[in-house]
Amino acid sequence: MRFPQVRPRRLRRTPALRALVRETVLRPDDLVYPLFFSASIDAPRPIGTMPGIFQLPVSAAADEARAARALGLGGVILFGLPHTKDATGSGACDPDGPVPRAIAAMKDAVPELVVMADVCVDEYTDHGHCGVLRTNARGEVDVDNDATLEILARSSVVYARAGVDVIAPSDMMDGRVGRIRAALDDAAFTDTAILSYAVKYASAYYGPFREAADCAPKFGDRASYQMDPGNAREALLEAALDEDEGADMLMVKPALAYLDVVAKVRAASTLPLGAYNVSGEYAMVKAAAAAGMIDENRVILETLGSMRRAGADFILTYHAKEAALLLG
Ligand code: PBG
Repeated sequence: MRFPQVRPRRLRRTPALRALVRETVLRPDDLVYPLFFSASIDAPRPIGTMPGIFQLPVSAAADEARAARALGLGGVILFGLPHTKDATGSGACDPDGPVPRAIAAMKDAVPELVVMADVCVDEYTDHGHCGVLRTNARGEVDVDNDATLEILARSSVVYARAGVDVIAPSDMMDGRVGRIRAALDDAAFTDTAILSYAVKYASAYYGPFREAADCAPKFGDRASYQMDPGNAREALLEAALDEDEGADMLMVKPALAYLDVVAKVRAASTLPLGAYNVSGEYAMVKAAAAAGMIDENRVILETLGSMRRAGADFILTYHAKEAALLLG
């Protein structure tokens, strides 16, 4: 034996010793809370598949900002549900849409709060895909990568004008980080940061979100633009491309089933790294807790802690508020 006299239990004897040697900790400012703002409601509307999460009217934005500050959260990320949808998702570029209005209200109420906006057209297209459609050279309908980039760039500038701190593109089109960076710079928003959903898998764990944001694809699936769940090496390619194109921060999504990927991206990049504890991960905890099968509070903190331990600097999570309260 190399260390015959080491007995690891010596350092587990008291809470203070355990705290002294704890390698990773979770703090409220590691957590980013997702919010769904709808243009069509004037009172919060519960989301059936995500107990405790609501679609909100824009009039709730300032209070949400104050709540996030009071809890010491790291930030919020906004999603929008427009009045009407169309084929090109033009609502994503509407300066009077729910997201720009909520950004302005939140920054006005709490200027120091980090406000992020998810940039994607799936909440705004009538077909529910993350880009505009075309008939390709093979005669098939697919998502037009380069035409979509123009819309993402315009939407990003609209959010920047509203005062957002961080643009978070979640569409998985090739080249979007570079295109968005150029558009922000051209509009003089050189200090608006980009958090790229660099490594985003085609996952069944997004199911509840698609109810929350009313964005399930009306035909087909997202496998031609989101990553294949079997691939880990490709995650490093996606991360490197986004880093080259000017991403300030990277994200892996989902988190729990992809902690190996979080660890790999952490090792490969020096950029700050986020992990998205997605809707299906949240729903599973809520369902098991409601059935009396788990100790919910401990499971929440252990799960979020696993993402930090795997290498995530921050976590986007629907548990953010309850976790912040638990952390005190
Ligand atoms: C796309 C987007 C999705 C999520 C965040 N941004 C859905 C998807 O790709 O289908 C999922 C988040 C979650 O499940 O919590 N705009």
